[in-house]
Amino acid sequence: MRPPSFPSYRARRLRNPLLRDLIAETSLEPGKLIAPLFVTLGGRKKLEVPSMPGVFRLSVEEAAAEAKLLAKLGVGGVLLFGIPPRKDLTGSGAFAGNGVVQQALKAVKRSVKDLLVMTDVCLCEYTAHGHCGIVTNGDVDNDATLEVLARTALSHARAGADFVAPSAMMDGQVGLIRAALDREGFSSVGIMGYSAKYASALYGPFREAVESAPKFGDRRGYQMDPRNAEEALREVALDIQEGADIVMVKPAISSLDLIRAVKRRFHWPTAAFSVSGEYALIKAAAARGWVEEKRLVLELLTSIRRAGADLIITYYAKQLAQWLRKRGGS
Ligand code: PBG
Ligand code: ZN
Repeated sequence: MRPPSFPSYRARRLRNPLLRDLIAETSLEPGKLIAPLFVTLGGRKKLEVPSMPGVFRLSVEEAAAEAKLLAKLGVGGVLLFGIPPRKDLTGSGAFAGNGVVQQALKAVKRSVKDLLVMTDVCLCEYTAHGHCGIVTNGDVDNDATLEVLARTALSHARAGADFVAPSAMMDGQVGLIRAALDREGFSSVGIMGYSAKYASALYGPFREAVESAPKFGDRRGYQMDPRNAEEALREVALDIQEGADIVMVKPAISSLDLIRAVKRRFHWPTAAFSVSGEYALIKAAAARGWVEEKRLVLELLTSIRRAGADLIITYYAKQLAQWLRKRGGS
């Protein structure tokens, strides 16, 4: 189709404030957002993460209360991350029957029925060295790690998880977890794959929050090189073949091209994780009065949706739900 040109077409006619909402192509509702929650055992009930103002490490009880509030605000779901009391070489806290995430799952499910509860499945919060898997001879052992990830996912399913989200970037993790869940009678528990996860400088505040910075080396042996986009599409294809119900791209703002490409190519439910560093950047600039926080957050999250994300995992979920509630639409 050849569009008409000026003066028969005047683009500004459609920018009339009476029309803007009617012709808007993208929407941003709390129901499209997932709020990450950091849960800890013992210690203070609520402890702010220094590099993430407004984000807290919560006790199990506080997490349950927070989930209830989020559900009331219309937020689509929560994604639980655990901070265990002890770390060891095998990450055994990850699959402990009474581990932090397992306790949080039970408490959240008791306190709120109509909220999707997802869990992050990885070992870096639970290993003494901070790597996402079992380390043998100085390297993360893929296949040994798979067993532990499957065990962890199963323990989450038993504690009530609706969805598990493996984030370790081990080859075959989605397939092995799917098989384990099915074998144990959890065929209705879903999997959101952290399919295309880049080795990014934007995870720093998260690692501060859960004390998971690797003690040696870095994560480039398993997380993706930011220079690669075709590799990301292969990763997504593999996760879909292995049984991922939702695929995810992470970080969000630096991967808008991929969000678009993934949605176009696979027509699969697609999530974007707007990570801790994205949150921290906005907070830091807003604290100095250098950007308008609310406008910027609305613009960036809308752009992630416009790129093609169906759902967004964001630390701004609660704040955004509160803003949208007051203003009604964006
Ligand atoms: C665990 C995990 C990480 C994030 C989600 N799951 C950290 C990492 O890979 O180092 C990052 C989340 C964020 O920065 O908000 N593997
Ligand atoms: Zn990890």
